Amino acid sequence: MASPKAPESLVERVLVTEEQITARVAELGASIAHDHQGRDVRLITILRGGLIFLADLCRAIDLPLQVDFMAVSSYVGGRPGVVRVTKDLDDSIEGASVIVVEDIVDTGLTLNYILRMLKERQPATLEVCTLLDKDVRRIVDLPITYRGFSIPDRFVVGYGLDVNGLYRNLPFVATVRDEALAGAG
Ligand code: IMP
Repeated sequence: MASPKAPESLVERVLVTEEQITARVAELGASIAHDHQGRDVRLITILRGGLIFLADLCRAIDLPLQVDFMAVSSYVGGRPGVVRVTKDLDDSIEGASVIVVEDIVDTGLTLNYILRMLKERQPATLEVCTLLDKDVRRIVDLPITYRGFSIPDRFVVGYGLDVNGLYRNLPFVATVRDEALAGAG
């Protein structure tokens, strides 16, 4: 099967290869399985960026588990970190061991808002598993239990992350050329 390719005008450099992602996802899955034996595990992903990571991660966790989805959008012109839920979870998480599966944590404002909201629903535990962590940009402190890779403060694309809705299907994570970002919102 041919892998999707990115145009040279988009990619500056590959930051995390497909092989590195595969190996790290297997490690994260094994850690999560080890830490959650006998628990009611729920993987919750915020659409759309976390979709690809979730699909691979859930198959690397050798435990019975459930997945659920949430979608949010930033309030246009609103306060940073205040988000509107456009699709809520389908199931109650009360008493469950919840792991929020994220593609990337940048400032952490979005995730902070979501975690506060989920906490009110009284899960037994509430943890975060992110593939990528731009920790130098963090504004709020977050409890990240599982982390794939720490990356520098550069805009990245691939493995779920998009530029103008495109390139989520790239199998690697790459930094984006400044020219390709010009005009991207
Ligand atoms: P935060 O609230 O600043 O942590 O923003 C988190 C969200 O911003 C992520 O879930 C992504 O959707 C988006 N984001 C942050 N950095 C990048 C990036 O480098 N590439 C693509 N999307 C990004």
